[in-house]
Amino acid sequence: MKLKPVLLVLSAALSFNAYAQAPIVIKFSHVVATDTPKGQAAERFKQLAEKATNGRVKIEVYPNSQLYKDKEELEALQLGAVQMLAPSLAKFGPLGVKEFEAFDLPYIFPSKTALYNVTEGEIGKSLLKKLEPKGITGLAFWDNGFKVMSANKPLHNPTDFKGLKMRIQSSKVLDAQMRALGANPQVLAFSEVYQALQTGVVDGTENPPSNMYTQKMHEVQKYVTVSNHGYLGYAVIVNKKFWDGLPPDIRAALDKAMKDATTFEKAIAQRDNDMALDAIKKAGKTEIYTLSVKEQADWRKALLPVQQQMESRIGKDLISAINKEAAK
Ligand code: LMR
Repeated sequence: MKLKPVLLVLSAALSFNAYAQAPIVIKFSHVVATDTPKGQAAERFKQLAEKATNGRVKIEVYPNSQLYKDKEELEALQLGAVQMLAPSLAKFGPLGVKEFEAFDLPYIFPSKTALYNVTEGEIGKSLLKKLEPKGITGLAFWDNGFKVMSANKPLHNPTDFKGLKMRIQSSKVLDAQMRALGANPQVLAFSEVYQALQTGVVDGTENPPSNMYTQKMHEVQKYVTVSNHGYLGYAVIVNKKFWDGLPPDIRAALDKAMKDATTFEKAIAQRDNDMALDAIKKAGKTEIYTLSVKEQADWRKALLPVQQQMESRIGKDLISAINKEAAK
């Protein structure tokens, strides 16, 4: 027997085997810190997914805009450079799916229950479906929380915003919201906010406390107002072609892991935000102010017209459907 052909066959078999066993890699990119609700849920999904697929799938989580910033990450997903993201619902406008900006409307959700009625019901399902023509499959909604406002001056009344440069995400609703307060909105990627606040490129911003604290924004903002004027949440999304091409048993296991990670995420989101607000208070650099009943009414008066103003962009029917669900 000649040794060479045998060796060739053997090495071909070995490399085939190695190929067959190479795990499917899912790159999951996001822009926040690991110790936020989204960051922790991404890690939980990794654990659950790798366990459920016996290592046939490897999830590589890239937090803190390590790979891509806000807008770039959506492009990277469509191109297939990453497979999974969880952008905030305020960042889908540039993709052409403006309806997601409904989540940014001031005071649209009176409570988390109202929000879940929307995300877990028919409205949520139909919103995720709108991503498909963009080559994206929506897997879940993840939670963060209600936003606070911050600046280097106290923000008690709507008039306090006059002339302030306020950083916003790339949502036209958030643009309208800041303008309704008399502020000048400026779109900036999340990874650029700390520096922009520090150097005075912008005067203030909004986010749930978990994002402010983990990016140390409170260290460069003297005043935080607990206003709960709007909501921040996420859609977990995958490249559709990649997802549809997965073996069905793997896809089912990943679906289940996502379901469990979502339950986990919802359970920790509020607690993490409460803890972050407390931590900001304890850090002693920022004064935390809670609006009085009268001030809350003034904020609502200034901001509620944004709902009507944005009807032509988001759809009157969608806004009334959300308001109807929220009122249940
Ligand atoms: C922001 O850009 O302010 C946030 O949406 C970041 C995030 O993903 O929570």
